[in-house]
Amino acid sequence: MPFIIAIDGPAASGKGTIARALADHYGFHHLDTGLLYRATGAKGGDPVEAARTLVPDDLRRNDLRSADAGQAASRIAAIPEVRAALVDFQHRFAAQEPGAVLDGRDIGTVICPDAQVKLYVVASNEVRARRRAEELGADPAEMLAQLHERDRRDRERDTAPLRPADDATIIDTSHISVDEAITAAIAIVDRVRG
Ligand code: DC
Repeated sequence: MPFIIAIDGPAASGKGTIARALADHYGFHHLDTGLLYRATGAKGGDPVEAARTLVPDDLRRNDLRSADAGQAASRIAAIPEVRAALVDFQHRFAAQEPGAVLDGRDIGTVICPDAQVKLYVVASNEVRARRRAEELGADPAEMLAQLHERDRRDRERDTAPLRPADDATIIDTSHISVDEAITAAIAIVDRVRG
């Protein structure tokens, strides 16, 4: 049975960095599920149709990392039919040997509730806004406002809202380095793998 690591958390918490590092360390496949929603939003037109017809090439568009694409993704991600259309792709991805790391908002709660490891990555609002501002070359105050809006929408939606699974381990990256966060995550996975 493949080994599944589910990583959830709000925007710019550091979950993507941890997910990539874990996939690298264990030789697992990695899927940034936010890209599925970003690509769906970026296709324009009817979002349900866009989600149903999503192909891997759509994930390679180079405008998907922008703040606008993030906001659009968060809006269409609240539509239950959009989420339903993306489930199969995520399940197939998670079933790959020898294992997979998926990061997003609902991986531990909805997509892979039986994942062997569930992490929930958080960081203070200020730290997240500063990171995102540095990444995108934008104004921290504006980033903070955008993160607030996106987090609120992701937490308050009815379908698959952002929240930690009951059995998730919380990693707070506010006051630790990237290396420390990765070391902590590897220690958690190693405890489970034995
Ligand atoms: O992780 P990200 O910032 O790329 O995600 C963009 C948006 O996509 C996020 O604000 C909400 C949505 N999303 C989701 O609803 N469920 C996921 N598993 C991943 C992302």
